[in-house]
Amino acid sequence: MSSNKETFGKTVGFVLAVCIVCALLVSFSAVQLKPLQQANKLLDQQTKILEASGLLEKAGNEIVKTYNQFVEARMIDLDSGDFVEGDVINFDERRNSRDVALSIKPKQDLAGINRRSNTAVVYFVKNEAGTIETIVLPIIGAGLWDLMSGYIGLEADLNTVKSVIYSDHKETPGLGAEVLNPRWKALWPGKKIYNDAGEVKARLVKGGAKADDLHGVDALSGATLTSNGVTNTLQFWFGEEGYASFIAKYRAEGVK
Ligand SMILES: Cc1cc2nc3c(=O)[nH]c(=O)nc-3n(C[C@H](O)[C@H](O)[C@H](O)COP(=O)(O)O)c2cc1C
Repeated sequence: MSSNKETFGKTVGFVLAVCIVCALLVSFSAVQLKPLQQANKLLDQQTKILEASGLLEKAGNEIVKTYNQFVEARMIDLDSGDFVEGDVINFDERRNSRDVALSIKPKQDLAGINRRSNTAVVYFVKNEAGTIETIVLPIIGAGLWDLMSGYIGLEADLNTVKSVIYSDHKETPGLGAEVLNPRWKALWPGKKIYNDAGEVKARLVKGGAKADDLHGVDALSGATLTSNGVTNTLQFWFGEEGYASFIAKYRAEGVK
């Protein structure tokens, strides 16, 4: 009887010891790997911004060096369009949007984001001569399954599209995930976000955009819901509650 009790005690002791060792290992690796994860996240972001500005090929393996040489990240206040001070490296739109002091509930939540951060980080990409050639603006909006985020590269007129680069999404491969297909991405350069009256007209067209459509790009086939999400995301981010104030101010005053 007593040996049974002894065995039970030893078993529980062993199980507890294994649990404690595992818990320690998991927390140790989480703490140790965090800086590496953050560095990878930053590298991924810098890669996408270079891709959005057409500098990825030129950068080759030297992503960080090229990014640091040509890209300037600035924080803006979305309502006023002003440049503001802030930590551009650790900025997280979704974290801000969970804080009522740092975000608003849009009057017209076309992008399906529920809340929008008061600030955003925009990227000015210069050429060798120091002239701004591309302005990269982050976008985020609902797809079919979840929020999709990415970047739009615009020419210095802040109207002509250079690129639409999605970085994070949970859409289905072969359907909504075709936003990553190079053939679809190649439809964007030269399209205009706004018409002459300043209305946001960029959109995806089900059944295919006409060749002379200045604003329309073919919708993703078999993925009308993702396509509508992309259109709504563009409508939101280039509208009054998105980058419209910044764009108006930048056109009037440039970078200060
Ligand atoms: C398993 C599964 C995954 C799907 N994934 C997507 C998707 O990622 N994006 C999307 O728009 N539709 C997706 N759909 C299809 C939608 O339910 C819907 O039928 C489609 O958006 C209609 O597009 P269409 O009018 O171009 O055919 C999926 C359907 C199924 C069954």
